[in-house]
Amino acid sequence: MTASYELRGNVAVITLNNPPVNGLGYETRKAAAAGIEQAEGDAAVVAVVITGAGKAFSGGADIREFGSPLALAEPNLLSLIGVIEGCTKPVIAAIHSVGMGGGLELALGCHYRIAAKGTSVALPEVKLGLLPGAGGTQRLPRALGLEPALNMIVSGEPVPSEMLAQIPGQKLFDRVVDADQLMDAALALAAEIAEKRPLPRVRDLSARHENAEAFLQFARNMVGGMSKNFPAPLRCVDAVAAATTMSFDAGMKAEREAFVALMQTPECGALRHAFFAERAASKIADVPADTPLRPINKVAVIGAGTMGGGISMNFLNAGIPVTMLETKQEALDRGVATIRKNYESQVKRGKLKADKYEQRMSLLSTTLDYADIGQADLVIEAVFEEIGVKQTVFKQLDAVMKPGAILASNTSTLDVNAIANFTQRPQDVVGMHFFSPANVMKLLEVVRGAATAKDVLATVMALAKKIKKTAVVSGVCDGFIGNRMIEQYSRQAGFLLDEGCSPAQVDRAAEKFGFAMGPFRMGDLAGNDIGWAIRKRRYLEKPNLHYSKSADRLCELGRYGQKTGAGWYDYQVGKRDAIPSTVVADLLDKHRAALGITPRKISDEEIVQRLVYALVNEGAHLLEEGIAQRASDIDMVYLAGYGFPMWRGGPMRYADQVGLFNVVHSMKRFAANPLDDAKFWQPAPLLARLAAQSKTFS
Ligand code: 3HC
Ligand code: NAI
Repeated sequence: MTASYELRGNVAVITLNNPPVNGLGYETRKAAAAGIEQAEGDAAVVAVVITGAGKAFSGGADIREFGSPLALAEPNLLSLIGVIEGCTKPVIAAIHSVGMGGGLELALGCHYRIAAKGTSVALPEVKLGLLPGAGGTQRLPRALGLEPALNMIVSGEPVPSEMLAQIPGQKLFDRVVDADQLMDAALALAAEIAEKRPLPRVRDLSARHENAEAFLQFARNMVGGMSKNFPAPLRCVDAVAAATTMSFDAGMKAEREAFVALMQTPECGALRHAFFAERAASKIADVPADTPLRPINKVAVIGAGTMGGGISMNFLNAGIPVTMLETKQEALDRGVATIRKNYESQVKRGKLKADKYEQRMSLLSTTLDYADIGQADLVIEAVFEEIGVKQTVFKQLDAVMKPGAILASNTSTLDVNAIANFTQRPQDVVGMHFFSPANVMKLLEVVRGAATAKDVLATVMALAKKIKKTAVVSGVCDGFIGNRMIEQYSRQAGFLLDEGCSPAQVDRAAEKFGFAMGPFRMGDLAGNDIGWAIRKRRYLEKPNLHYSKSADRLCELGRYGQKTGAGWYDYQVGKRDAIPSTVVADLLDKHRAALGITPRKISDEEIVQRLVYALVNEGAHLLEEGIAQRASDIDMVYLAGYGFPMWRGGPMRYADQVGLFNVVHSMKRFAANPLDDAKFWQPAPLLARLAAQSKTFS
């Protein structure tokens, strides 16, 4: 079923019914238009109510149809809205839960709108690299006023219905009612207005603003500066501007042209890819969607250091009580003080209300005694990264935790299977690899051990959504998905220095490509000593693996990065600006001379290709080994956790766009460079196969 039709007295009720969110796909549009025609033709019907079944009024155009002929098949969304607006009987939208994108545009084509309190209202098209393409840019400014409408269209962010209803002079909602009253209130409204003519149409209103021209110029400057690599936001401003300067029909034409043009852009393709990638990542092939979940009402965190504190905040933010456990009271006090400081800074910046802060802190407790955490549903260990310490902790957890509790480790490098085997219940053990700062970073790698139970995985994935993380499943291996790939990227960055680049040149090229931060600025931020420790371990484990030693020379000088006031760059006290360093330039000159290398000029193109294709090749190995479930999961890891440019859709998608044949061709060139690692540049078998067959990762 795609839209149902029923009579409630003399009112026709059309219910959109296209799970999961009543996307306005072809069949749904057809059924809705047929419903309007049926109501028109039935003399007994005096009004029509359109609503949505299940968990949404409508989430908008059916994104699954994008790029297929069905998206435009008649009645397309514009035609359907035309049919509704042109209906000779009043049409009322009864909106609940989610009224977004084309769903909101459809409602704006109705003559009246009634919303349930708590409805999420948005025009989120910009997040997909688009603008609202079914009249949203023309009707919302007319219904809501220019300024709030532009904010919604440019940000794409949802706003609760009751908040919108408070905007003075708004004509978006005729009424906002309690959710359980929605249909009764819609039928009552129908009775009131059944005879009223002419039928009100949003298109007949004008977009209100006292000084539209100046406001739009201001908006253009702001939006242009903030959305350099995304064409859609500025097109949104232009389209909304058309609502103030053109007739309704001319504005609709301008909107349509911009929508069609944006749909063809690579940025739109990448953002749509990311939308589906994020949702795909939450699914695990052999874990059914209806797997029963373990309830998580109480969490314990072992270790109140950098990660333990940040991890705890995620749960406090979601209203879940947390107990932090440490070995010493001082460590607990420090951990709690850091959490307080973080929240207080949010309160100062107006990001958190004072009462919410207190409410969150009241959910936090601390202890030195394992007996106090035995009843927690989930315990996350974030103690020192030493296998002996992990063993002590997991043996204790095994002894005290109630049956069925989930035991998670935040380890970034250790073997989750070995950790699981410290307990008598490896099926309850899982890796939850948060990224620093854990209260900010979106990515969560969920590490599936050999014995991890399916319901444990399903529970952790659902919990990740609750604490607003983007969760991606990784198998067990050194570095999991993200860090295993970044190691190859970092090795390339090191070779580039050996061969003649400066850190600033590499960073500039990477940042011009779109990385939030180049590898050397990133090293200075995270601490170069972390990489040093990993390399020292590698020199023992893989003595034949070739690394640039320039980073070791840097660390030998104590230049660990921002925290020591010097790293790849110099830093002034209290500032974060990276200043190119003569000490480092000298260090690199000497380092090259010692190796007998004559520095060469390296193009930005080569720098970017070597950095990004290193990620791609390692990603292909991860896919083939089954560590990553799908290429789009790898893209999500890099988009959510490593500052890969969103408008390129992730490393694997980027490689698909470049063409895998071209990627492999470049790799062969890099393999011939005697200062690089020829073995590494042998294409992963999966990559070689796909390239040979003209296929893509997706
Ligand atoms: N079309 C088709 N499927 C959609 C959809 C849409 N517009 N929006 C969401 N879905 C699907 C998701 O892919 C997911 O499917 P899956 O279970 O098979 O993976 C399912 O609905 C649930 O999605 P979420 O996991 O995101 O569920 P939530 O409950 O957290 O959120 C939501 C629901 C708020 C609707 C969120 O999915 C969302 O923001 N969706 C995007 C809405 C959007 O961008 N609409 C604009 C579309 S473009 C448009 O309308 C063009 C027009 O202007 C011409
Ligand atoms: P940290 O040194 O800041 O904190 C560790 C805390 O654990 C300290 O407060 C210490 O007192 C406590 N601790 C040590 N032994 C303990 C024990 N037996 N019982 C209870 N508490 C104990 O370390 P950090 O950075 O928070 O790292 C913790 C874990 O998180 C490590 O496994 C690390 O690999 C991992 N990780 C770290 C990231 C980072 O960027 N710092 C990122 C992702 C994971």
